[in-house]
Amino acid sequence: MDKRYPDTYYSDYLQLGRLLECQQRKSESYGSPAHDEMLFIIVHQAYELWFKQILFEIDSVREIFGGDSVEEKRIGLAVARLLRVTEIQKILIDQLRVLETMTPLDFLDFRDFLFPASGFQSVQFRMIEIKLGLLSARRLKYDEAPYHSRLSGEHRERLFDLESETSLFDLVERWLERMPFLEEEGFRFRERYGGAVVRMLEGDRDLIRTHSTLSAREKELQLEELDRTLASFESLLDPDRHGSLQEKGRWRLSHRATLAALFITAYRDEPLLHMPYRLLDCLVDVDELFTTWRYRHALMVHRMIGAKIGTGGSSGYHYLKSTAETHRIFSDLTNLSTYLLPRAALPRLPDELLKKLAFVYRP
Ligand code: HEM
Repeated sequence: MDKRYPDTYYSDYLQLGRLLECQQRKSESYGSPAHDEMLFIIVHQAYELWFKQILFEIDSVREIFGGDSVEEKRIGLAVARLLRVTEIQKILIDQLRVLETMTPLDFLDFRDFLFPASGFQSVQFRMIEIKLGLLSARRLKYDEAPYHSRLSGEHRERLFDLESETSLFDLVERWLERMPFLEEEGFRFRERYGGAVVRMLEGDRDLIRTHSTLSAREKELQLEELDRTLASFESLLDPDRHGSLQEKGRWRLSHRATLAALFITAYRDEPLLHMPYRLLDCLVDVDELFTTWRYRHALMVHRMIGAKIGTGGSSGYHYLKSTAETHRIFSDLTNLSTYLLPRAALPRLPDELLKKLAFVYRP
């Protein structure tokens, strides 16, 4: 191979001189060096590097979904990038085990030097949340103040700017809204699906009514439960019911996007829907792994500081545990499982539509 480039030296390429200068222990500068502070710094820095990589991948996925249409062949690339994000997230969860080799007493050797700094001020972590689509209005208040209250002016501005950009959630919602197939010649997915739901539930109703061992009271309770299930399906399929639940914050995805996601999930065996289904599945994975990290981090915090407040001033464990419940982004996709019918009960798609969803080889 012709040599056209100057020699590269390992250490220069990776700028290790600068990188390895960045581990300065506060405890050492205050004259009481704490051994475990080195681990604490390196683990946090490793997190920030991985956050940078995650942001890089999310940006590339946002770029793929950013245009007026998404090239079909690029969905595979988006899936590959999101899978990479999920592999990194698994490392992020495991990495807490390394930090847990530091005992609570070891932590107390330098904890006082850290106030009021906290992982709560990780701008890259906030950027990931915002780019994925966590809305400011849905965030838990921290010490009765907005999440950005503990950040520097420059960092706050950066996050405000980002909040006005289109998130991955918005882009995926638009892509789903554009999906054809929901209304074809002689086929209305919403009506056909609704019909299949009613048929299935009426079958269940007959089973309950004619059940030989259930008492009258048990039958009554089960029939009430069945009515609730039917009402829940209606809230998904009926645009007005869906709209009013959306206003109450119970659904976030638009009605059209929700139906498209349901269609993709229900008919994912059709060749053309394989990749779209994998994409939705990856988004659920990303969401679930962040939630797992939040729980895992909360448990570690509990073990490390018990019921003490955090260095950033929050209620610590309790605040963190609540974010795991509430700071989910793609939970609408997760909730779709509630509305799935068994394959045998799914309405059959018209032949013309099945042809469109197949890969056709034309020599
Ligand atoms: C000894 C280890 C750790 C302890 C005791 C700890 C403690 C805490 C506490 C108490 C909070 C709530 C805010 C506050 O009051 O300060 C918090 C938030 C946070 N920490 Fe940690 N943390 C530790 C390690 C880490 C590591 C290794 C990371 C990785 C970057 C991290 C990232 C975060 C993030 C991103 C938040 C904000 C979470 C949110 O608001 O949803 N923490 N941490």
